[in-house]
Amino acid sequence: MKAVAVFPAEREVRVIDHPEPKLVSATQAKMRVLDVGVCGTDREIVSFQYGTPPEGSDYLIIGHESLCEVVETGSKVSIVKAGDLVVITVRRPCPHPECVACREGRQDFCYTGDFTERGIKQSHGYMTEFVVEEEQYLNPVPRELRDVGVLVEPLTIAEKSLEQLWTVQSRLPWDRHRRAVVLGAGPVGILGAMALKVEGFEVSVYSRSPNRDEKNRLLGALGIPYIAAETHSTEDMAQMVGPIDVVYEATGASSVAFDVLKHLGPNAVFVFTGVPGRKGPIPVDTDEIMRNMVLNNQLVLGSVNAPPQAFESAIRHLGIFAQRWPDTLRSVITARFPIEHALDALKEQAGGVKNVVVVAS
Ligand code: BGC
Ligand code: ZN
Repeated sequence: MKAVAVFPAEREVRVIDHPEPKLVSATQAKMRVLDVGVCGTDREIVSFQYGTPPEGSDYLIIGHESLCEVVETGSKVSIVKAGDLVVITVRRPCPHPECVACREGRQDFCYTGDFTERGIKQSHGYMTEFVVEEEQYLNPVPRELRDVGVLVEPLTIAEKSLEQLWTVQSRLPWDRHRRAVVLGAGPVGILGAMALKVEGFEVSVYSRSPNRDEKNRLLGALGIPYIAAETHSTEDMAQMVGPIDVVYEATGASSVAFDVLKHLGPNAVFVFTGVPGRKGPIPVDTDEIMRNMVLNNQLVLGSVNAPPQAFESAIRHLGIFAQRWPDTLRSVITARFPIEHALDALKEQAGGVKNVVVVAS
């Protein structure tokens, strides 16, 4: 079957022929891959900055944002049947008995770093025709979400952050979640902004984008103001927005993030989800940041990957987005490419928001 693979040693990415997987246990299901989303992580993998093939393989099949259709189930599989749509989680537990996080099924909090991630770290991904997986890693998606289901995984990044936010903010004996600023207007930022909006926040997006008008229009349709970083300093933004309760960072641009950190409101939380590349050091006024953080009881939180609960919330939220904003939600997917042209989908696109590789329809 066809698969898109990166060969790190040869520094090559190509569409290859890979053996079709078979069920090897009663608790597994076999899926036909329908859609695979492309994100910044994939672009880093195909430029050889990130990503590791499985042991003994000289290539890694990429792709971790999936939407699949079940074609076959083992005799002990009960949550899905042939024909059902599923999104598969990304991270698998480390093998160490002492890792309480992985032993509890919370490998998104793995202590040892020896977890694997499908399509990213030591495990093949989903940009191929068929995959086999244990039932516990499958998340059923309703048919109505067929056209946008591939957005579930990027949305789980926001869902885990939200779960963390509610947990840490339970330190405040009252309910106040009013104003949120999202940094970045890529798919993770836009989907995060939608989730925050649905959760009742007044949301603004602060971003640098080559296609400002398109982002403006898209977010405008959600009732979310878009503040362009090219024309508004972080001070301007903070003035326009008022005291910020939550910043949801989704760019990996650390200098902007630390500038915004200075404008965080009292008792607020700043959530980092972007992973910056390794560039040189940049100067920051650490005294100012530390002073603000102490005098305002602020929290900075990093969040990576997502547990099954976050997939459930993402599927539920996506259903709400699809009812409230059907056209805007669909417009988050800006281009679809057949698997033969997957390499084009992986190129940085000045125009679009989310590129999707269509494996089967
Ligand atoms: C994926 C996460 C993953 C992270 C780090 C992201 O693109 O969405 O699931 O944990 O990359 O590898
Ligand atoms: Zn991703």
